[in-house]
Amino acid sequence: VGTLGEADLKGKKVFVRADLNVPLDDAQNITDDTRIRASVPTIKFLLEKGAKIVLASHLGRPKGVTPKYSLKPLVPRLSELLGVNVVMANDCIGEEVEKLAAALPEGGVLLLENVRFYKEEEKNDPEFAKKLASVADLYVNDAFGTAHRAHASTEGVTKFLKPSVAGFLMQKELDYLVGAVANPKKPFAAIVGGSKVSTKIGVIESLLAKVDILILGGGMIYTFYKAQGYAVGKSLVEEDKLELATSLIEKAKAKGVSLLLPTDIVVADKFAPDAESKIVPATAIPDDWMGLDVGPDATKTFNEALDTTQTIIWNGPMGVFEFEKFAAGTEAIAKKLAELTTSKGVTTIIGGGDSVAAVEKAGLADKMSHISTGGGASLELLEGKPLPGVLALDEA
Ligand code: 3PG
Repeated sequence: VGTLGEADLKGKKVFVRADLNVPLDDAQNITDDTRIRASVPTIKFLLEKGAKIVLASHLGRPKGVTPKYSLKPLVPRLSELLGVNVVMANDCIGEEVEKLAAALPEGGVLLLENVRFYKEEEKNDPEFAKKLASVADLYVNDAFGTAHRAHASTEGVTKFLKPSVAGFLMQKELDYLVGAVANPKKPFAAIVGGSKVSTKIGVIESLLAKVDILILGGGMIYTFYKAQGYAVGKSLVEEDKLELATSLIEKAKAKGVSLLLPTDIVVADKFAPDAESKIVPATAIPDDWMGLDVGPDATKTFNEALDTTQTIIWNGPMGVFEFEKFAAGTEAIAKKLAELTTSKGVTTIIGGGDSVAAVEKAGLADKMSHISTGGGASLELLEGKPLPGVLALDEA
């Protein structure tokens, strides 16, 4: 995709689509500003080049105009991070937006109201896309987290704004999640966790074609154990995915991928933070107990395998890390990846969603090579699917 720096930006109105979909608490305070901070380098670059920014994003999944999904609470933080007074519009299209955009000085930022207040956004309605585009000269898409959606502000708008290019965050995400995964320094390991195998089938299948080592953890492993004939007690199992689990194990074998399933498990007598717990072999999960984390032997084996690698991609926690008692397996992976990145220069990529939360909880976010800002988008990319928001961008 084309990148910034190629277009003459001075005095130009640039429509920047960012993913400012940040979590807000009941008092409308931002509880995690990662996505806002991640959008800053592109916007700052454009401002320094003398561009005028029309900034757009969605927030949440509103059905029509919904005050609690307004982007207004983001203005103070954005202004602070950018070092300019961000002007906020009450809408994302219409007369007021046209006036405010026309009045923008060089180096000024106009934040539009939530584009999803219009159903036309998700429908990718061409008329709506045209209205969004009408206030700008060119388009920069930095909304990696929304690039898997073919919406008006991520896809439709590119038909009306030339050039349409990728921002720095978009470019960095693609460099790691496409570039490093397609041409990894070998050996290459993937760690895939999370509660359900059904949501990770595509990722596992796609990664099996690329990795040397595949480590599996999280709730999905009990489906693999059951498929192999082990007793799994009350652990989470997707009964309709047993055959699939078997076929994935066979595929790994056929491709010469070293597939590591945990050898021991932390089991609990109930799904609760204060549950009774004990460590058991993976082959001997007692009736009435459920697996909620990987055990210390498994962690040791995983660490030894990871020590041999040059590139690691991680998607999905090893256990129920939200409960302190069952967080050790996930924390151990976060620590190991941080150590390998900082001391051995291993490329470590955290592929969005819960594993990002786990790395942040462990305070290790700045120790990884790359942490994705996209959950669904990074998953689709790792599955090998093209992202509509990326495909729509110009080549140069
Ligand atoms: C996300 O949070 O993953 C992105 O902002 C996309 O949001 P969506 O799943 O509501 O399209």
